[in-house]
Amino acid sequence: MARVVKLVTVAPMTKRAYITTPIYYPTAKPHMGSAYTTMAADVYARFKRLDGYDTRFQTGTDEHGQKMQHAAEKLGMTPQAFVDEQSAAYRDLAPLLNLSDHNFIRTTEPRHYAAAQHLWSKLVDAGYIYKDSYAGWYCVADEAYYTEAELIEKDGERMAPTGRPVEWLEQESYFFKLSAFQDKLIEHYTNNPTFIQPESRRNEVMSFVKGGLEDISVSRTTINWGVPVPGDDKHVMYVWLDALTNYATGDGYPGEMPFFNEAIHLVGKDILRFHAVYWPAFLMGANEPLPKQIWAHGWLTKDGTKMGKSNNNVLDPQELINQYGIDAVRYFFLREVPFGNDGDFSHERMVQRCNTDLSNDVGNLFQRVLSMVAKNCAGQVPALGTLRTEDEALLQQAAALPALVRGHVDQLNFHKALAAIWDVVGAANKYMDTQAPWTLRKENPEQMAHVLRVLLECFRPLAVLLAPFMPASAQTLQTQLNYHVITLEELEQAGQIGLTEGTALPAPQGVFQRFELEQAA
Ligand code: MSP
Repeated sequence: MARVVKLVTVAPMTKRAYITTPIYYPTAKPHMGSAYTTMAADVYARFKRLDGYDTRFQTGTDEHGQKMQHAAEKLGMTPQAFVDEQSAAYRDLAPLLNLSDHNFIRTTEPRHYAAAQHLWSKLVDAGYIYKDSYAGWYCVADEAYYTEAELIEKDGERMAPTGRPVEWLEQESYFFKLSAFQDKLIEHYTNNPTFIQPESRRNEVMSFVKGGLEDISVSRTTINWGVPVPGDDKHVMYVWLDALTNYATGDGYPGEMPFFNEAIHLVGKDILRFHAVYWPAFLMGANEPLPKQIWAHGWLTKDGTKMGKSNNNVLDPQELINQYGIDAVRYFFLREVPFGNDGDFSHERMVQRCNTDLSNDVGNLFQRVLSMVAKNCAGQVPALGTLRTEDEALLQQAAALPALVRGHVDQLNFHKALAAIWDVVGAANKYMDTQAPWTLRKENPEQMAHVLRVLLECFRPLAVLLAPFMPASAQTLQTQLNYHVITLEELEQAGQIGLTEGTALPAPQGVFQRFELEQAA
């Protein structure tokens, strides 16, 4: 008999998304503060893929500059050997954090040299780069120039506004005409009100730019660890001009950049100015497209102080993950800290979130329902009876969840997305308690089956929408329901009812661990 082959035309994916983390200085090992941005970016990337977007996700290391050269010299290493060794620790973070498909970029790669030099040449051609001599204050730790007015005084000494030392620098230098971009930047912020997020950060940048912009020095002759300035090998490019270009390099610059219009740059609030002022000005100057958004988040703190190597208060991601598991760590930071605010870590809060939100609210709920199904419904998806008002209410709330979560994740409001998911978890727990299927077991088994079915239906969107946040746990939840969807669209199309009566379900198993505080601390 001839085999009939069905031809299906697959529409090409046209929706695109691009999310980036800052590229990290690999002078020190990664800590939880830097892992935080990367986890957030991964949640976004995973969510967009679930939502049918062709998605680029990029992270990497920023390997040039005075800071790097000094650090290598101190260890008696060449800068290249030093960054090769150090960068690996960042690349190796990927399996630990369970990152989805991404591009890891290093600024010492030839493709990046080509991109940075191309951008430079376009700026020269457009007349925005000129040679002069620079005399002013430079902070190596920040790799930033500061004006006299920006300096603060600490213990009788002049310091950068970040509290780090500055040095007086006098050298021949190329300059970028940042001053020419004040009006253009303001116009761009005005026409694109969500270009800088959150709103409070946008206002900060607006007033900084309105205060007037000075040209910036964009080359150095005092170091040689950097991208050579085209046509003038005595100079290397200023590390920030080099570093910012990574977002374009990764997308194919100087070739076509298919994702760049959709780029969202996640950055810490300390590096907002570089991203929201310098970077768009460089791109405008070179007549290149701009990214879609710069999103500045807050800091992870330890007892109120920014977590960082120089403050000697870092949390090791490896240790934390060994202790609690990656899913719990991902959940904790994205749920506990409203994205944009600073957030403090404590074992108390961590243990509480694990035991209450994960183990009790979700874990027990699934376990109770699935155990009843295993024992009383032959381990199969039970039949649905006639829907009553209370069933409809729960099912409607669950079916509305994908759109709600999409709205929040699109705004990078991860904590709100999780809160919305837990609203449904809460409603399901309440439904379970009021319906008390265990009391129906003897007197009305059909009604018991119906109630369990309603709960299973409500679990579907939960198991799917948790996947970007807690990939492995959500996978287990989906396996328990014998329900796997590829896209959010499928989930939404199924509506309130998506399981098939009689489908066999595997034996239930616990998904989330409980912790004792003494043990954890
Ligand atoms: N290399 C530059 C970025 C260049 S991007 C073109 C840099 N590197 S960094 O390693 O110092 O910082 C990288 C990111 O980590 C920044 O966004 C910074 O805000 C973030 N964090 C560093 N410590 C942090 C916390 N304690 N909490 C949250 N984010 C933190 O700057």
